[in-house]
Amino acid sequence: MKTIIEPFRIKMVEPIRLTTPGEREAILQAAHFNPFLIPAEAVLIDLLTDSGTAAMSSEQWAGMLRGDESYAGAKSWYRFEAAVREITGMSHVLPTHQGRASERILFELLGGPGKFVPNNTHFDTTRANVEHSGATAVDLVIEAGLHPRGRHPFKGNMDPSKLHGLIAEVGAENIPVCMVTVTNNSGGGQPVSLANLREVRRICDAHHIPLYLDACRFAENAYLIKMREPGQRDRPVRDIVRDMFNLADGATISAKKDGLVNIGGVLLMRDDRLAERANNLLILTEGFVTYGGLAGRDLEAMAQGFREVLDEDYLHYRLRSVEYLGEGLLKASVPIIEPPGGHAIYIDAGAFLSHIPPEQFPGQALLCALYRHAGIRAVEIGSVMFGRTDPETGEPIRPPMELVRLAIPRRVYTQSHIDYVIEAIGELAATKDQIRGLRITEAPAVLRHFTAKFAEVG
Ligand SMILES: Cc1ncc(COP(=O)(O)O)c(C=O)c1O
Repeated sequence: MKTIIEPFRIKMVEPIRLTTPGEREAILQAAHFNPFLIPAEAVLIDLLTDSGTAAMSSEQWAGMLRGDESYAGAKSWYRFEAAVREITGMSHVLPTHQGRASERILFELLGGPGKFVPNNTHFDTTRANVEHSGATAVDLVIEAGLHPRGRHPFKGNMDPSKLHGLIAEVGAENIPVCMVTVTNNSGGGQPVSLANLREVRRICDAHHIPLYLDACRFAENAYLIKMREPGQRDRPVRDIVRDMFNLADGATISAKKDGLVNIGGVLLMRDDRLAERANNLLILTEGFVTYGGLAGRDLEAMAQGFREVLDEDYLHYRLRSVEYLGEGLLKASVPIIEPPGGHAIYIDAGAFLSHIPPEQFPGQALLCALYRHAGIRAVEIGSVMFGRTDPETGEPIRPPMELVRLAIPRRVYTQSHIDYVIEAIGELAATKDQIRGLRITEAPAVLRHFTAKFAEVG
């Protein structure tokens, strides 16, 4: 059967409405051509992020009612801790309000000036937290991960030779931790293989460098391992997940992705002494160690979400619907990162809008065109998000790709919503030469994509 059956039925609905072209034009101007500044009510299909946008299940809502709001040692905390331990096998489970809070604690402990943190590709908040600590964030994804159209099955893999090179260059003593992001969000939502994790682990062991996962999408990564890595097809996803965590000394997790919740995060560790220091920082800014800035009901929803995400019918539907969007866009001759990854389709905006140079932000220009044409919101992952000026030379530093990410919220949209997106982008392809570039009129010093303002060029 070709139809992708959503393995759930809908119990509650939230109306959405298509605005008129005139309304969208006024809204886009008022938002200074930055979709982050558009009110959600004015968006028809919101593909800005898959983070914190999942629809919760009836069991998660039931858990919310069971939430124990005791300050210390709540029943909800113990249920949450048990669920996370059972899945990951990690000894220390620290609840945080979201992924970046876990990152801030980790890099406050391990980062600092003169240190280098390798990753396949740092996500923006991870890079920002590494740099905020004074350390340098280094991206070491394999060469194939930088080429949009090569169909390598694990384009999220870290390049072992690049890791060797970094260690030789800066010294293992200056690398306090090696991170691997699964799946590799900023590199196209591409998975990392078990074989690659084992190889990275071997190198880290040889140099006494701890290995941490940025494991926001651990279940999607594990399902892609099951589908694509030789010898994994018949193994339960739960076992593959455990293999991934067994290779790590710890993990930062934003539960807003594969935790299937709207808020929440986790910091995982095996090292007792480091965990004690992390708990002290947790208390300082997040909350007591058994709630970490969350309500008991949030812990319940996370505990249930982490279990549900391992359901293989769910994972099949999830990965297949993302792939379906990718196939539709390819049929419409829209260049995307191939093969489709876990949570999103990434349009190669640099190639799609080849008449717009990187300094005029082709990704951001495509976002605006998508909203104007069809009320669809997406996010740029390119020169707006990662472009900077070299402090020494004054030259612009640009990311290797200019992408637009269409992130699919979990369990929210149906196949007909996805068909609408395919149709809208297909129509846009016919008139793409009329899309204009942008210039920045105002931007903050860090994480500028959230609040920067733009004007259209020419
Ligand atoms: C790979 C990755 N790491 C970290 C984060 C940060 O998580 P949060 O938004 O919960 O702070 C994200 C969020 O999108 C992510 O995709």
